[in-house]
Amino acid sequence: MSTVYLNGAFLPIEQACVSVMDRGFLFGDGVYEVIPAYGGRLFRFPHHLQRLQNSLDGIRLGNPCDDAQWQSILTELLERNRERAGNHNDQSVYLQVTRGSAPKRDHSFPERVTPTVFAMSTPMTDPDPEIEAHGVAAVTLDDIRWQMCNIKAITLLPNVLLRQRATEQSSAEAILVKDGLVIEGSASNVFVIKDGRIQTPPNGPLMLPGITRDLVLELAGQHDLPCSENDVPETALRDADEIWITSSTREIVPVTRLDARPVGNGLPGPVWKAMIGYYRSYKEAVRNGSAS
Ligand code: PDD
Repeated sequence: MSTVYLNGAFLPIEQACVSVMDRGFLFGDGVYEVIPAYGGRLFRFPHHLQRLQNSLDGIRLGNPCDDAQWQSILTELLERNRERAGNHNDQSVYLQVTRGSAPKRDHSFPERVTPTVFAMSTPMTDPDPEIEAHGVAAVTLDDIRWQMCNIKAITLLPNVLLRQRATEQSSAEAILVKDGLVIEGSASNVFVIKDGRIQTPPNGPLMLPGITRDLVLELAGQHDLPCSENDVPETALRDADEIWITSSTREIVPVTRLDARPVGNGLPGPVWKAMIGYYRSYKEAVRNGSAS
C-alpha cells in the first residue's frame, strides 16, 4: 500500500483525506510539482524547488516549507515507498500545495490561510522499448489555456481536455499552437530539429519552463549540438526532421507521426539518439550520486 504525506503526517493513501472546503477542490487554487527520483535521489531538485517557489509567488501563496524541510519530507516519502518501487528504486514524486480550506466558499483569499500540503510517489517504469524504436504520434491543437501557463497550477482542465482529444486520435500528446506559433505539449515541452539544429520556444508566460527542457538545452551545449531558443512557427513542425516532447515522467520522446503524417523519415532520428544517450548518462550519474 502506498504511503503519502499530508499536512505533517505520513499515512496510508486510503486514510489521506482533505476537506471538501479545500480551495484546491473548490477552485483549483493551488500549485504542484512532479519530480523524478532515480535510485532514491531527487533529480534536478534545486530546479524543481525554484520552480515551485515561482509558482507559489505567482499565486501569492507563502511557501509552507523551506528547502531543507522539502528535502526531508520527500526523502522520507521515497524511503517509505521504496519496497513498491522495484530494483532500480525509481519513483516520481507528485507534490501539491493548495491555499487550504476556509469556512465559506469565497473567491477572494481567506484571511488566515493554512496551506494544504500533499505529496505522493509512484513507481517509475523503464522507458518503453516500443516507443524508443518507433516513437509516438502527436496531433496539433489550438492552445485554449490562460495567460499564466508558466505557473504550474493544479487547474488543468484545458490540458485534460486537450490530452483527451489527442488520446481519442490514438496520439500520445497534443502539441499546442497559438497565433501560428508552437507553444508546448499538453503536459510536455516541444523541440523541433531541422538540419541538425535543435530549436525550442523561449520561456515566457504562455508555457511551463520545463526542467527536462532546460536539461536538454544544457546537454546540447555541453556536447556542442547546435541549439537555440526561438519562436517556432507551426509550419516548422511540418518541415521538421525530428520532433521531441520532454517531461520529467516521459524523459525525451521522439514524435514520429504528426497529424497522421510521418515526421522526417517516420523513425526516431539521429539527434534524438545522441541526446537520449547524454540524458541517460546524466540520469545514471544522479543515480550513483555523482550528479544531482
Ligand atoms: N507535466 N509543460 C506542461 C504543461 C507540463 O505539464 C509539463 C510536465 C511540462 C514538462 O515539464 P518538466 O520537464 O519539468 O516535467 C511542460 C508533469 C510531468 C505533469 O503534469 O504530470
